[in-house]
Amino acid sequence: VRSRSIVLRRRPNGLPVTDDFELVEAQLPALGDGAFLARLLSIGPDAGVVSRLREGANYRAGIAIGEVIGSNGVAEVIATRNQDVEVGRLLYGPFGWREHEIRESVDGLFDVDPARPLTAPLGLLGLHGLTAYVGLLEIAKPRPGETVVVSAAAGAVGLIVGQLAKIHGCRVVGITGGPEKARRVVQEFGLDACVDYRAAEFPAQLSELCPEGVDIYFDNVGGDIQDAVVPLFNSFGRFVICGRIALTRLTNMELDVGRRDYNTVLVKELRKEGFLVYSHLHRLREAQEHLWRWHSEGRLELPESIVEGFERLPEAFVGMLAGENIGRRIVHIADPEHR
Ligand SMILES: NC(=O)c1ccc[n+]([C@@H]2O[C@H](COP(=O)([O-])OP(=O)(O)OC[C@H]3O[C@@H](n4cnc5c(N)ncnc54)[C@H](OP(=O)(O)O)[C@@H]3O)[C@@H](O)[C@H]2O)c1
Repeated sequence: VRSRSIVLRRRPNGLPVTDDFELVEAQLPALGDGAFLARLLSIGPDAGVVSRLREGANYRAGIAIGEVIGSNGVAEVIATRNQDVEVGRLLYGPFGWREHEIRESVDGLFDVDPARPLTAPLGLLGLHGLTAYVGLLEIAKPRPGETVVVSAAAGAVGLIVGQLAKIHGCRVVGITGGPEKARRVVQEFGLDACVDYRAAEFPAQLSELCPEGVDIYFDNVGGDIQDAVVPLFNSFGRFVICGRIALTRLTNMELDVGRRDYNTVLVKELRKEGFLVYSHLHRLREAQEHLWRWHSEGRLELPESIVEGFERLPEAFVGMLAGENIGRRIVHIADPEHR
C-alpha cells in the first residue's frame, strides 16, 4: 500500500501557512506479527497543534522538522496480525496526519460508540467536549444568574462552553471575529449576546453587554481580548485559561506583553487558573454521558465545519486559525469499509 503523510517542512514564522507543511508519499512496510493497520477516516486539525510547531518545551514535545504532524482522529482497522484487534474496529484518539498508521496496541485510543455519529468523538464527545465540561463546570463552577464571557465563542470549545453556561442558568456573552458569526452565536445557539472583537469599539461594547460585570471568563485566546475582559470582573470572579490562540502570530510566546492585571486580581479576589484537558481524561466517560444527554434534549449542538480530502489538512488547519469555522473543523478522508 502506498500512503500519504503530512510533515512539518519548516517552523512557522508567526501564524502557520500551508507552505510550512509538506505532503509526502511512501510505501507502507509489511505488517509484522502483533501489528494492525488503521486507516484514517476523519481528523480534527486541532488548534493545540500550533504550539507544537514551535521549538522548545510546551505541554507536549514539539514536532521536529520532517516529522508527521499529529492530532485527534477517527480510524478504522483494515488489516490485522494482532489477535486482540479485529478488522472493522473503529478507534479514536491521537493519530498522525497520515492516511494509514501501523500500530501494535490500542493504548491511548478509545473505541467509537457505534450508536453515535462517527465524528462525535472529534467534537462534542471528544476532547473538546471534555475541555468545555471540565473547564466550565469543574474549574469555574458557574452559578445561576452569573455572567459568563467566553472567547472564540463560535469555535468548538467556545460553542460548547456558551451552551453549557446557558444550561446552568447563566447569562452568557460571547466574543468572536466578525458580525455574522456574532449574530449566529446568538440566534442559532442561544447565547444572550455576542460581540465582534475586530470592531473598533470592542472593549466599550463588551462593557455595555455586561452591565452587571463578569463572574467567569473562559479564555480561549489571551492577548488584547483578555485585557478587555479583566477590568469587568466582579469580586470572586473566575478566570479560566483554556487557550491562547491570539498569541499564535507571535514568533515567541515569551514576548506576549499586555496589561498587568495584578491589582484587579488582588482587589477583586479573583481566581485565575489554567488547565489541560489531558489531566482530566479519566472524566471522559462521565462528560460524554452528560453532554450526549443535553444534546439529545436539544439543548446542546456542535456543528461541524467539514473540509473534504486528506491533502487539504494544512489548508483546513490554517483556515481554522483564521476563523473560517463555526463549530468543530474536521477533515473527512474516507468512510469506513466495514460499518
Ligand atoms: N486547555 C486545553 O486542554 C485545551 C483543549 C482543547 C482546546 N484548547 C484551546 O481552546 C481554544 C479553542 O480551540 P478549538 O479547537 O475549539 O478551536 P476553534 O475555537 O474551533 O477555532 C479557533 C478559533 O479561534 C479564533 N481565533 C483565531 N485567531 C484569533 C485571534 N487572534 N483572536 C481571537 N480569536 C481568534 C477563530 O475564531 P474567530 O472568528 O472568532 O476569530 C477560530 O475559529 C484554542 O486556544 C485551543 O488551543 C485548549
